[in-house]
Amino acid sequence: MSSMPPPVKHAMMIDFHAHVQPGADHGCTGSDMAQAQLTLARDAGMGALVAVSHYYPMRDDFADHLRRRERAASKLQAIAAADASLPRVFCGSEVTLCPGLDRLDGLENLCISRTNALLVEMPSGKWSTKLTDTLERIRYERGLDILLAHAERYDAADVEQLLMGGYPCQLNFDAFARMFGTRRLRTWAQKGWVHALGSDIHGVQVGYKHLPKAQKVLGRQLTEEIWMQSARLLGLEVKK
Ligand SMILES: [Fe+2]
Repeated sequence: MSSMPPPVKHAMMIDFHAHVQPGADHGCTGSDMAQAQLTLARDAGMGALVAVSHYYPMRDDFADHLRRRERAASKLQAIAAADASLPRVFCGSEVTLCPGLDRLDGLENLCISRTNALLVEMPSGKWSTKLTDTLERIRYERGLDILLAHAERYDAADVEQLLMGGYPCQLNFDAFARMFGTRRLRTWAQKGWVHALGSDIHGVQVGYKHLPKAQKVLGRQLTEEIWMQSARLLGLEVKK
């Protein structure tokens, strides 16, 4: 969380979706757990990590959420300062989309720190035009870079409409450990639609055990292209 990050080496591994904000949501109970999670990330080879907590606009108080996130960021900063071997941490929110979210004052504050990137979780069920119009306005009127969280969870045809419309996505590592559907995810990556991968880590039970399967399905070149896209989203200068 330093103010001027040094350039990253080519294809640094980035976990773009990790619930490691201490005490901010159900993914991480406190600093001890966050430290354990960051250690798992480091041991899996992650050079950077996006620490997120859920923001549900229909039930969460906006100011409360930002305060929780800020407190968590300070705790993560202290953990990182004590151990330089841990991944570089960026703080963000996993924002559940609802109609009209584009009108939220201060929406930009939900972006990943120092970036214009907003990690958006689509709701389950059928997506209304009101909902997808909201996405459009967040992109065009608020000028934010939307990244669709764990796109593998939704109806593939619905997601592909968004991907074709220029919304990139993040996929969870465990999506590649499933029996079916991994070929489709690889195709998405080949089309350049996948800009990030993530553990979606909650607690310390699963950790990064599905990362090797994701790397195997995607292959080295596609995986590295995705890490590069992630670095760009975080505004990191990438050394060729
Ligand atoms: Fe999540």
